[in-house]
Amino acid sequence: MIYLDYAATTPISAEIAQKMLQFMTLEGCFANPASRSHMLGWQAEQAVEHARAQVADLIKADARELVWTSGATEANNLAILGLAAQFPQKRHLITSQIEHKAVLDPCKVLQQQGYQVTYLAPDAQGRIQTQQVLEALREDTLLVSLMYVNNELGSLNPIADISAHLASHPAHFHVDAAQAVGKFPLDLQALQGIDLLSISAHKMYGPKGVGALFVRRGLRLQAQMHGGGHERGMRSGTLATHQLVGMGEAAQLAHTCYQEDHAHAYRLRQTLLEILSDLHDWQVNGADENHQAPHIVSLTFAGIDAEALLMAVPELALSTGSACNSATLDPSYVLTAIGLTRQQALASIRLSMGRYTKVQEIQIAGEQLKAAVKRLRGS
Ligand SMILES: Cc1ncc(COP(=O)(O)O)c(C=O)c1O
Repeated sequence: MIYLDYAATTPISAEIAQKMLQFMTLEGCFANPASRSHMLGWQAEQAVEHARAQVADLIKADARELVWTSGATEANNLAILGLAAQFPQKRHLITSQIEHKAVLDPCKVLQQQGYQVTYLAPDAQGRIQTQQVLEALREDTLLVSLMYVNNELGSLNPIADISAHLASHPAHFHVDAAQAVGKFPLDLQALQGIDLLSISAHKMYGPKGVGALFVRRGLRLQAQMHGGGHERGMRSGTLATHQLVGMGEAAQLAHTCYQEDHAHAYRLRQTLLEILSDLHDWQVNGADENHQAPHIVSLTFAGIDAEALLMAVPELALSTGSACNSATLDPSYVLTAIGLTRQQALASIRLSMGRYTKVQEIQIAGEQLKAAVKRLRGS
């Protein structure tokens, strides 16, 4: 199989897996990091705090501004629902039509409670413009929640520009950066307008089931998970030391190789598009080169049923959209929101590549896809 679904999840390196193992076994550092009464607990806590510093370093935040979660889904829920519970008098939210369901669904929950939500429409490239946000702001706007990199298209929102404008506005700004952290430089000291930012470990070569929410100093959220009062009372639950160690190591690695990763992904993208270039009636969805994450490639082949196309290339691990929505056969709401017809959306696939994808693999994938499209079209 050739794995081309890095936006769904990434593998972790053998070195990191090995390191994680040291925090699970009797011989290792398996103790509960909240155990204050013995040395083994302190050692586990030290490992957790080291990981916190590694992740904070990657986004230039203070380690005390990170709250561990089970992933970006939980981070998004905590950001949106936790903020709403903290500031009940403000009842308007701004987000976009093409956010991940982990943002849209908590917004819907609030809507059912009487909140008003403005869903900004993306342009044809899958981007939201700063001006749209500014025009939607109201006096009672509690939160603007926008993603950095769209998980289906790879298009980038002007996060820095929106942050600069919101820095002086009372509305809070949450960024779902699940697809961006470790791939694009983030400096939360510079981006003072961002109050909350969601991170997922398994999108950046860390383990699944762990993530973090950046909560800017001074801001408090109401816990959505109640229990022992961990994470400064914002998220209770025994911390998964081995997962956090894996996330920390992945963050440190990303710090050193994101530029190389970016150049590699760009090269892979160019190679793929070149191979497909002699096909007719197909398009790349997403933004122009300057506003596009190169590792995510959304393609539409006119007249093709994407499900049939995937069946025709059984050696390629790719998807028709995001993994979270692939249980339904509805066309992608992201693709229809940027103007694709239902038929075009159902003729679309997503390839996503990463650190371990070889040029040769993308060449094989490109040739297989091209041959399958021609076969399905009967040409
Ligand atoms: C943009 C975005 N937000 C949130 C998530 C959810 O992340 P997690 O799997 O860590 O809960 C994903 C993953 O699919 C994503 O791509």
